[in-house]
Amino acid sequence: MDILVVGTGYVGLVTGTCMAEMGHKVICIDINKRKIDDLKQGKVPIFEPGLEEMLRRNQAAKRLHFSTDYDEALARSFVCFITVDTPISAEGTANLSQLDAALETIAEKMVEKKIIVLKSTVPVGTAEHAKKLISNILESRGVEIPFEVISNPEFLKEGNAINDCLKPDRVVIGVESEEALEIMREIYAPFMISRERLIIMDIKSAEITKYAANMMLALRISFMNELSEYCEKMDANIDKVRLGIGSDHRIGYHFLYAGVGFGGSCLPKDIKAFKAHAEHNEIPVDIVSAIDAANERQKRKMFKKIKDYFSDLLGLKGKTFAILGLSFKPDTDDMREAPSLTLIDDLKKSGAFCRLFDPVASAKAKELLEPSPLIYFAESEEDAAKGADAIVLITEWKQFRFLDFEKIIPSMKGRAFFDGRNQQNPEKITQLGMDYISIGKKTFFSNQPLLGISHK
Ligand SMILES: NC(=O)c1ccc[n+]([C@@H]2O[C@H](COP(=O)([O-])OP(=O)(O)OC[C@H]3O[C@@H](n4cnc5c(N)ncnc54)[C@H](O)[C@@H]3O)[C@@H](O)[C@H]2O)c1
Repeated sequence: MDILVVGTGYVGLVTGTCMAEMGHKVICIDINKRKIDDLKQGKVPIFEPGLEEMLRRNQAAKRLHFSTDYDEALARSFVCFITVDTPISAEGTANLSQLDAALETIAEKMVEKKIIVLKSTVPVGTAEHAKKLISNILESRGVEIPFEVISNPEFLKEGNAINDCLKPDRVVIGVESEEALEIMREIYAPFMISRERLIIMDIKSAEITKYAANMMLALRISFMNELSEYCEKMDANIDKVRLGIGSDHRIGYHFLYAGVGFGGSCLPKDIKAFKAHAEHNEIPVDIVSAIDAANERQKRKMFKKIKDYFSDLLGLKGKTFAILGLSFKPDTDDMREAPSLTLIDDLKKSGAFCRLFDPVASAKAKELLEPSPLIYFAESEEDAAKGADAIVLITEWKQFRFLDFEKIIPSMKGRAFFDGRNQQNPEKITQLGMDYISIGKKTFFSNQPLLGISHK
């Protein structure tokens, strides 16, 4: 099948590359010329495990092309997947301006039948809106060109996107005509060799399914975060509670980790957009509102713990913190809505120094954080810890599970480990002579000397 992917971001690049990997002929376009120039050279602008290698392979096989030229792209394709961003507007609604711009350009330039597939996350009714928008433009051009709009929301997870795309749990398709459904079946057939994963429904239900999935995931996280505070106060352990409830197959273990709050490009914005849409339609959404409010509170929780800990130690001004992990989750460089940003902002406002380290997201973080004498980008975990009063683990990169404390601790000034993802063993940390503060557990104070080095 000849496929066009509009927007070469996290979703578009992975979708286009995986479609090419499955043998389709794919052209990906973007309005960002620099991005496309890089992609033509095989340079991938995002960190996504396995993507660059697969992209280059398919480029070399001439199944995957990049362009900024809609005319060329439309001439080479029949099915257009739209994967532009749908960020949150200042009013808290889904901002569809990128989507509208993409649809307008397609409608202005198309000369023959097209199938338009909405992969971006969009509020219910957007496919309907897209149809009207395209029809109006075709009418004003005085042409009659058949087209169809399909909803095919994306469920990939950054960091595991290639695997999610090649072996999806499910492919949701909201479609009106049998003909369009057959085309989607053909496109996805190579992804369904081991078992059928297509879930076919009406367009509106497909649009809602995406929001419902993200809200359910966010709900589980916020629930555990709320419970974590209760566990702390009751001197219980949230990790044990997770095991206790997750063993019930009706509940399961996934997405039940307490932490520093969820971030990223999807959960926070999708919850806000859904809430705004429901409220606009005068539909009560108390649970959804609570997920959002609980998460905003949770994002400030680690700062509060740090502030409380240092209140007996002359406060935060002039203290130094080694922040381990900046991206909103491991295996991605995506910094959108990352909880690290909230913490860094709070620490800076308190006059504390932040020594930041992330295995891949530092470059993206540099673009977002204003240069400041209070911020230093470290080369390694050890470099971040130099002169630090505390280590604060924010993103659970695997490499942080086995920190080289023998190298780290001697260069530190203080003796506190704040574990925002409950990755470390409290007993092990306290044996090293550090106090251990995490989420949903009591604070473990150490009475051991710090690796044999006495601290004042
Ligand atoms: N990132 C994820 O993990 C994920 C997962 C599932 C769904 N989604 C949804 O997919 C959509 C895209 O997300 P993303 O993270 O890939 O966004 P992104 O910002 O990484 O990428 C969007 C790309 O679209 C390009 N673009 C904007 N307007 C354009 C136009 N008129 N023509 C051509 N290109 C244009 C931008 O330059 C950018 O490269 C969003 O609706 C998001 O909610 C994202």
